[in-house]
Order: sequence, then C-alpha cells, then structure tokens
Amino acid sequence: MDTFYITTPIYYVNANPHLGHAYTTILADAVNRFQRLMGKETFFLTGTDEHGEKILQASEEKGVNPGDYVEEVSKKFRDLWPDLDIEYDYFIRTTYPEHKACVQKILQQVYDNGDIYFGEYGGYYCHGCEAFYTDRELEDGKCPDHQKPLEYIQEKNYFFRMSAYQDWLIEHINSDPYFIQPENFKNEVLAMLRESLGDLCISRPKTRLTWGIELPFDSDYVTYVWFDALLNYISALGWPEDENFRKFWPSAHHVVAKDILKPHAIFWPTMLKSAGLDLYKGLRVHGYWKVEEAKMSKSLGNIVEPLAMSGKYGTSAFRYFLMREMQLGLDGSFSEQGLVNRFNADLANDLGNLFNRALAMLHKYFRGEVPAYDGDWAQEDLEMIDLGLQSFSDYIDYYQQFRVAQALEALWEFIRGLNKYIDSTAPWQLNKEGNLERLSAVMSLVFAGLRKAALGVWPVMPRAAETMFEQLGLDFNAEKFDLLRESENFVQLAAGTRVAKKSNLFPRQELVSKDSGEQEKKKGAAKENREKNSQKKQIDIKQFQELDLRIGYVVNAENVVETDKLLRLDVDVGEERYRQIVAGIAESYSPDDIQHTQVVVVCNLKPVTLKGLTSEGMILSAHQDPGLTLLSVKSGVQPGSKVG
Ligand code: MSP
Repeated sequence: MDTFYITTPIYYVNANPHLGHAYTTILADAVNRFQRLMGKETFFLTGTDEHGEKILQASEEKGVNPGDYVEEVSKKFRDLWPDLDIEYDYFIRTTYPEHKACVQKILQQVYDNGDIYFGEYGGYYCHGCEAFYTDRELEDGKCPDHQKPLEYIQEKNYFFRMSAYQDWLIEHINSDPYFIQPENFKNEVLAMLRESLGDLCISRPKTRLTWGIELPFDSDYVTYVWFDALLNYISALGWPEDENFRKFWPSAHHVVAKDILKPHAIFWPTMLKSAGLDLYKGLRVHGYWKVEEAKMSKSLGNIVEPLAMSGKYGTSAFRYFLMREMQLGLDGSFSEQGLVNRFNADLANDLGNLFNRALAMLHKYFRGEVPAYDGDWAQEDLEMIDLGLQSFSDYIDYYQQFRVAQALEALWEFIRGLNKYIDSTAPWQLNKEGNLERLSAVMSLVFAGLRKAALGVWPVMPRAAETMFEQLGLDFNAEKFDLLRESENFVQLAAGTRVAKKSNLFPRQELVSKDSGEQEKKKGAAKENREKNSQKKQIDIKQFQELDLRIGYVVNAENVVETDKLLRLDVDVGEERYRQIVAGIAESYSPDDIQHTQVVVVCNLKPVTLKGLTSEGMILSAHQDPGLTLLSVKSGVQPGSKVG
C-alpha cells in the first residue's frame, strides 16, 4: 500500500497555541484525511519544540522548573488538537529520551563524517530567534523579525559544514520541481542560495545554556534549536531501526509557514545529506495570517483563540473558513465578520440549504426513501453528472498540491450546480404532473450528489460530513472510499435507503457585536423602519408589474468629477447599447468594487440629469446605517433577465 507521511512544525512552548498554529495543523490534518480517502496508509506528526533560551526564560518568568513548564504548555497543544478535530498519529516532544538519543546519534554520525568542526565565531546574536545574523541580513542594525538591537557575541562553538552542500542543494532544487512549492518560495530559496551560505552554528556552551541536548563528543556543550528540532521528523518515526521509518520516510511532506522556510529548505536537506539519509519528498509553505490586516501579537492584543472561534461557530465551520480563505503561499486576513459571511454564503445557503431541501422533498414525494432508478439519464442529468466528475477531478488535483482553498472552490461549483439542477428540474412540478419516472431519476441523482458532496467536505469538515452521511442513511468509514473512483463514477444510493427528516446542518449566523449600545441603536432603527413601512400605501400586482426590473451587468464604472457621492456606470441590461446610469453609491463602493458585477436595475424610470450626465435608470440597494449594499444575484444570470 502507498504511504503518506505529513508533519507540522513542532511549536515552541513559550506561548499558548493560537490561530497560526491551528491553521497549519488543520491544513496538515485536511491533507492527511484526503490522502486517507485516496487509499494511502498515512502517518501524521505534530508536536512541541521544548529546548532553548526562550523557553528557559519563560519558565524562569513563571518561577517553575523548565521540565514542569514545558509539560504544562505542551499539554495545551496536545489537548487542543482533538477539539479542533485534528487526528494526529504521534505527538513528538523534543524532551523525550528517544528524541535526544536520535539527535546524539546523528550528531555523532555527522561529526565522524568530518562535517562538524570546532571554531571561534563572533557575530550579532538575536535572543528572540536564537540565531546569528550577518551584517547583510540586519535592518537598521536590528533583527528583521524582532526589530530589536542585537548582542555581539564571540565564543567558541561547533559548526556544521553547511556550505559544502550549497552547490549540490541548488542542483537538487532545480532538478526536482516537486521539492519546494509553491513556486514563489522555491524561488526565494534559490535567491538565498545565490549568496554564499556559510556554516551553521549548532552548539551553545553549557556556561550559557544548559536547557538543550548534550553533544555526544563534548559534554561542555549542548546542541541548539535547529539541529535539535528538525530531527524530530525522523526521531518520531523511530530512526534508524524502526519499521515506521522505513515505511513512511520516503513519502515525507513538511508543512510550514514562510517564517521557517530557510531552516526547512536549506539547513534540513544539507543535514540529511551529510548524515547519509534520503531527503524529504516535499516542503509545502504557506503564508501568514494577519488579523484585520495587522500582525497577530500579544502586544497588539489581537491573538485569535482557535477554541473560542470554533466554540462559537462550530469546529467544522471554523476549519472550513481557514481552509477556504487562505490560498497556499499567500497571506490571509482573519476577521470574525469574514467568517460569518463565508458561513452564511457557502455553508448555510449553498450546502446547508441543499441538504434541507433535498431531505424535505424526499420525504414529501417518496416518504423518505430513495427511489429505485436504473433508466437512462436525460441531457440535463448528463450535464450534472459531467459537472460532478469534472469538479471531483479538479478537487483531487488541487488537494495533491495542498491547494485546499481551490479544491473547495471546485467542490462548491458542484454543490451550487446541484442546487441549480434542482431549480431547473423542478421536482415539485414533476410531482404535480405525476411524472414518477422522471421524479425518481432526478431524486436519485440528487442523492448521489449529496453523498459525493459529503465525501468531498470530509477532509475539512469531518464532523459535519459524518452527520451528513448519517442523514443520508449511510455508514462512513474513510478507509472504504476511493476518491479516484469518485471522479469516474456517480454512485447512486441503494433504493429504499431511508434518509433523515431534517438536516439543519448550518443555521445562519449573525455576528454578535461586542458593542451592545450599537446593537440597541440598530434594533431601534429597524423598528422605526418597520413602522414607517407599515404605513406605506399598498399597491396591487399590476402596479408592481409596471416596474421594469432587470438584471444588469456593470461593464464600466468610474468616479464622477467634483463629487464623492456619484459613480458613472455603463450597464448592460440586455439591449443593443449599454445604459449610462449615475448612481449615488460612491461612499460605499469604489469603481473597482462594482465593475464586472451584476446589479438589479429599474429600467423604466424617467431619465434625469446629474452633474451634467443623463442617468437612464436606477440600481437597487439595501440601505442601512452606515452605507448601503447593492442588490445582486447569487449566480451568473443573463444581462437583461427580468426580475419579478
Ligand atoms: N519551533 C519552531 C519550528 C521547529 S520545526 C522543526 C517554530 N515554532 S513556532 O511556535 O514559532 O511555530 C511557527 C509556525 O507556527 C509557523 O511556521 C506556522 O506553521 C505557525 N504560525 C505561527 N504564526 C502564524 C501566523 N500568524 N500565520 C500562519 N501560521 C503561523 O518556529
């Protein structure tokens, strides 16, 4: 059986787990679950990095001994992951005796090879990074990461002859496009390798730091962060003699953020090469989460607590948001409002409604039992099937590249397609006409689609997916599925399968503002509106039909000079020429926001002239304080389509 080995960084225990740690670990978990569905035997490793100056300092600040301190914080990580539906196979700690033994063994091996030497070194040292910086790497004489002045330290230490492997590494990276991805990070590493590499300081004298692993060839020294930490990826597999090492190392994939690109892309492969071990297969690098555009930090007080978010919106929704929002390799911006918006659009509307309406229909038309259908498919069924297979094949391609956001996008095309398929086949109409044959075909296909959708969301939302399977009257067992077959087949549910009456997977969410005064004001305004509306004159349907409401597509948008309220738009409303509309929306929308979007247009309003420009219609919006929101349609509709 093919294997797949995936790791996260091991996290420092000088801080509590936050959104950034949760993201990497959920990403690894999702990819790991995907590989399980691909029939691979998988091993998922995470853990904590527990040695070094910073950690010792943190324990001293708390007034506890370092052993107790690291145990306490490491446990917080270990306990958090299952609450976020993260299912790792092993949790490594660098203070485990097996890990220490592995580090010493490799050190000895590299030392015996002649790749470790003793020398004197003077350099600028950042205590935050626990690393030396060269003049070139400094920014205004400060550490680029911590922006703090550095200490000049001169001492005798052990060095790893990394520079000896520079040319070999360049060659390797160039020859294996799979090794470092995405491409921008691969190029960043190649750029680093254009400068001379230098050697890596790997020790600390015990007079300065004892909280490390003693060098096997000099008991006055301990080894320091990277030579200790990186080796967790093989010590956890029981290198050298354990069966797990033999089995899983050849398929190793490391997931890290861009902050630790250099140690993983340069230190680690050269260390492996020197120790005579095979390299890992792939390094996958993601960007950084910011919180509403700012860096997440204790001092800014904007640390996002993963547990608080998943408690509030559900673990599945929290995982979905993180995976859907950040494109691999780019930075992402976290906001609770963003999460709520995605929740409502993708989960409540698209996926949740699909389940709600399908289950309700099956109960109404077939007493909750999937009908038998083995006849031919109609053209629109075949198109639906095609969309499903294509989207599954895209989904697989993206997942193989760790591009989970795009994989979800592909899957959602299918989910939205299923909603449209229900709209256009109109089962309620078929039922009314008594067309049982066609109704059976449609419902059978819809339920085959629901099964596929549930399977597709499982890696990111295991808990929700398992509930979907239950609602569909199916058992879920990850090891039983074969995703490749799913992109070739549409598996119908057995006739007679009983499904749940109700789904209610993702009830709509509202962001509860912390500022209750603000909330009260909004409620007051809404009440006032209701009262005003109830006093409005009633019209009959004929009067309403006099309105010519159409879908318009904004072809161009630009600001109108001398005003900051108006935008001039060219709108396609399905006529031979575009209409010019001057809209008072510039305080809420920039031209870029509105260009190439669909809007709802009142087309038979008498033209008016605003700032010398004729406006040939009005676009509709919802008004609230502050600003307005344009009315739009959820999916692409032909410009000129009638609204009623
Ligand atoms: N202990 C080292 C790693 C050793 S691996 C052999 C370390 N630890 S860390 O606690 O600082 O974790 C860094 C990692 O946490 C990042 O690479 C990333 O996976 C995750 N993140 C921490 N903050 C993050 C964001 N703001 N955004 C995204 N991920 C980030 O470095």
